[in-house]
Amino acid sequence: QKQGDKIKVGFSQAMTTDDWRKQMNSSIKIEASLRPEVDLTIKDANNNVSKQIEDIERFISNKVDVIIVSPIQSKPLTAVVEKSIKAGIPVLVVDRKIEGESYTAYLGADNIEIGRIAGRYIISHSKGSGNIIEITGASGSSPAYERTLGFNQIINENKRFKIVNTIQGDWEKESVKAPLKAILQQNPNVEYIFAHNDRMALSAWETAKTLGLEKKIKFIGVDALNSVNGGIELVKSGVLDGTILYPTGGNEALKLALKMYNKESISRNNILNTIVIDKNNAEIIENQMDKVDQQQLVIESQQGAIKVQEREYASQNNLVRLLSFF
Ligand code: FRU
Repeated sequence: QKQGDKIKVGFSQAMTTDDWRKQMNSSIKIEASLRPEVDLTIKDANNNVSKQIEDIERFISNKVDVIIVSPIQSKPLTAVVEKSIKAGIPVLVVDRKIEGESYTAYLGADNIEIGRIAGRYIISHSKGSGNIIEITGASGSSPAYERTLGFNQIINENKRFKIVNTIQGDWEKESVKAPLKAILQQNPNVEYIFAHNDRMALSAWETAKTLGLEKKIKFIGVDALNSVNGGIELVKSGVLDGTILYPTGGNEALKLALKMYNKESISRNNILNTIVIDKNNAEIIENQMDKVDQQQLVIESQQGAIKVQEREYASQNNLVRLLSFF
């Protein structure tokens, strides 16, 4: 690092089509903009594994100082992360994991625990049949694997409950519709549907609605975004019975990356807190999140004002220089 140079942080984002990832990007950008020494580049892999590998290769050849990556899938991204470590560039893996041990640190909520929380929620709230459908995230991505692991562990311990069907989803709404419709037409005797994120839970509710079953079945999701059609709103409107918060950790990611760059000691596993949100606390949580959002807006508008002043100062300076010719 030459003196005066900025710290180059490369963030390889899996995709940015959904609101969760949009929020993650905006919180990491806000954190970066508060630190003038940071030069943050975000590359969007568009949910394409080979594109994500290329993006990280590019970071390595551009000699960035730190890499942050949210890997689309674990296995195919493992080698390129290892390559970066070998090249001396530390890597912070966020949200989804890679395989093996060749990374500097991980940041994200405990997805096994999220699955367990969903299982315990159903067991403690259930009054009916105990038949459950699980809708998983994309295969090969670690949160899908881990949420299933935790959920099945809790449900299988309990004889009154049964996962009668598991739908292999891909995190997106479309993947839910046709298989769920076929399953519910065969056997509508289902009490709970647990989907690995709120988008798929909403899609499950919409599908159940086409069969007139949306009031009979209860829906649980994950993410709990405070946005239009986000989990908090879906709980408040009664579409979801509950959702489990999955924080994006955007700002924490940048802070950790800088600690890694400065060779400060950090934990290898950095676990973000989670919480169940249902009709009892949705309003309170929403208010809290609104406050944070408002503070972020204030920061952004202050930064905007500073930029305007900087531009004015620069143009006045030019004017002064110009006038000094006469
Ligand atoms: C966003 C998302 C979330 C989910 C997470 C898992 O792209 O699908 O809905 O919780 O990824 O990595």
